[in-house]
Amino acid sequence: MPATERTLVTAALPYANGPLHFGHLAGAYFPSDMYVRFKRLRGESVLFVCGSDEHGVPIMISAEKEGVTPQAIVDRFHELNKSTFERLGISFDYYARTSSPVHHKTSQELFLTLYEKGFLIAREEPQLYDEDAKMFLPDRYVEGTCPVCSNPSARGDQCENCGTYLNQTELINPRSKITGNKPVVRATRHWYFALSKFQKPLEAFVESHKNDWREHVVQAARSWLKVGLNDRPITRDLDWGVQVPLEDAKGKVLYVWFDAPIGYISATKEGLDPAINPRAKDFTGIESDWRTWWQSEDTKWVCFLGKDNIVFHTILFPAMLQAHNEASSERKYILPENVAANEFMNLQGQKLSKSRGWVIEPHEYLDRFAAEPYAADILRYTFATTFPEQKDSDFYWKDFQAHTNNELADILGNLVNRVLTFVERNFENRVPGTLAAVKDHELLASFKTEAAQIADLYERTKLRDASQRTMDLARLTNKFFNDAEPWKLIKQDKEKAGEVMRVCLEAIRALGVYFSPITPRAAEAIHGMLAYDGATETWDTANSAKLVDGAALGKSSILFRKIEDEVVEAEVKRMEEMQARVIAQESSEKKEIAAAAPAVDALISIDDFKRIQLKTAKVLEAERVPKSKKLLKLQITIGTEQRQIVAGIGEKYTPEELVGKTVVVVANLKAAKLMGNESQGMLLAVNDASGVVSLITPERDSFEGLEVR
Ligand code: 2FM
Ligand code: ZN
Repeated sequence: MPATERTLVTAALPYANGPLHFGHLAGAYFPSDMYVRFKRLRGESVLFVCGSDEHGVPIMISAEKEGVTPQAIVDRFHELNKSTFERLGISFDYYARTSSPVHHKTSQELFLTLYEKGFLIAREEPQLYDEDAKMFLPDRYVEGTCPVCSNPSARGDQCENCGTYLNQTELINPRSKITGNKPVVRATRHWYFALSKFQKPLEAFVESHKNDWREHVVQAARSWLKVGLNDRPITRDLDWGVQVPLEDAKGKVLYVWFDAPIGYISATKEGLDPAINPRAKDFTGIESDWRTWWQSEDTKWVCFLGKDNIVFHTILFPAMLQAHNEASSERKYILPENVAANEFMNLQGQKLSKSRGWVIEPHEYLDRFAAEPYAADILRYTFATTFPEQKDSDFYWKDFQAHTNNELADILGNLVNRVLTFVERNFENRVPGTLAAVKDHELLASFKTEAAQIADLYERTKLRDASQRTMDLARLTNKFFNDAEPWKLIKQDKEKAGEVMRVCLEAIRALGVYFSPITPRAAEAIHGMLAYDGATETWDTANSAKLVDGAALGKSSILFRKIEDEVVEAEVKRMEEMQARVIAQESSEKKEIAAAAPAVDALISIDDFKRIQLKTAKVLEAERVPKSKKLLKLQITIGTEQRQIVAGIGEKYTPEELVGKTVVVVANLKAAKLMGNESQGMLLAVNDASGVVSLITPERDSFEGLEVR
């Protein structure tokens, strides 16, 4: 299989808004590092970049909550995440940050190129403005009542209760989350990227990869294209981010999803600048030029990311690059050769959720497992065997224990230990046998065939299979050792026993190479025990015998320690306790908010109350609104009048049980459209803390059209 010449590998830029968690590692960082280390072993040129995504509203919100600047937040988490990556053995050539001047300049230049060629269109649009805070409110800074399900705390972009995507101006009774005031609607100007123009080229791009990208990636991209691409706003009224480089755009920044992927390009520029990155000196000749990595057709770009980022890597960023390519007479940007997105990894059978406290942070894991030899590697290996490449997968502490104990310790570690102690005892800790006698040995020959197949799995980013097949090589070597019974042979034929042990040593040396993408530090330790410098090894030649006859070996030690039951049990307990704490805190916060709610100035007069017409009504017909779990369409009568009401109660009530019921409705509410259905009023219901809905119904069930007072 032909090896590609030059590969640019990117891993999605994590937000510098909090510590990394296990989901990040499974989604993008372990897979990309494994792939990169393999590619380097194949002797290919690889550039591996990533960095902190330091813009976006959530970072501003964190800063506000803590009473610090956004810069302080990103400084803290950039440093923490960068050092966590190092501790995990992630071998980025450069880890950048999007607050850097190079990044700002690169993003602004791309914006201007698109602007000058008419791919960016200005539009005036209404947006909510907080007159006291003197700012337009980003979606997450406004709250209000959801027009669909009446949830009183829907966000400006989406209602978390019914899942409806909203436009902030659709919220009923909007409130600014900064001052609590009612914002006003004001016109503001934004620039839209003409994404719709790229519908056809993107369809062609995605279809050209239908056989080589992962199926779920192709499906996700196709489903976006099927809906049809709309132009997208790419600017925001904020002061944190990359300034929009236009005269009439004061106080506006680029939308974080416009600038973040450009971070890959700016990270490349910085990574190749020796004044910024010490590793830049490893790249010489044309490879020291960022354009070689981005604008040369013989470079292949492979990106790693979690599934929530697929649309940006298959649609949005490729469209931005295509727009640049159409707009510019300079060299053209390449598009991703592979978008190796992983699905999600659950924890202990539950969806990972930061806000619900169901999360594991690798820097804490590394601290707690600091005494464990190769703490990062055992995690890397467990993850590799369960990467969610095709569907969501699960991390269980019990599996982590089993993979460590039964595979890394019992198969690989034990093999290394048995072989080395045997040679130490019987061959004065020197390389026994001769190169000539083992060079065509069948175990080493079978390694060659196997390694070629594993390489093919790597090339196709089937890293989960690759890691399992790699462990099979250690199993094969164990079997060879057991079948050859050197402990018997040594008593009859020392020379023959020496040959067997030489084959085992060569196999272990090769395993050090094959395992190095998965468990790099343990692999290095294996070579250390052989007093062998593995730096010159390549994947394709690792199988050939090359130890020096009679050379002194290093000191052997136990490679992996077994993990005790108590250790993993304590981890599970710790998670459960943390989740319980978070949930308890959340509900006490909710109670506090509820207690604080009826502030004096919120009291209403009896006249205010009389303005609301509450009436009893009878349900005549009820049916589900297609494609909605929550919405039911009801035909009701209020006295002689018949009306249609759409209500978000479909998860609690079936249409059948509603027919004939008497309910209470707000009869003088302005009509609204919910998923295309007119709703002429609202049902009264209670929504308790656990989200259960109950309709308010009169105790005696026969009256309708009566006023509720
Ligand atoms: O989802 C995220 O964590 C984003 N910060 C990923 C950005 S990837 C990008 F750089 F394209
Ligand atoms: Zn809602």
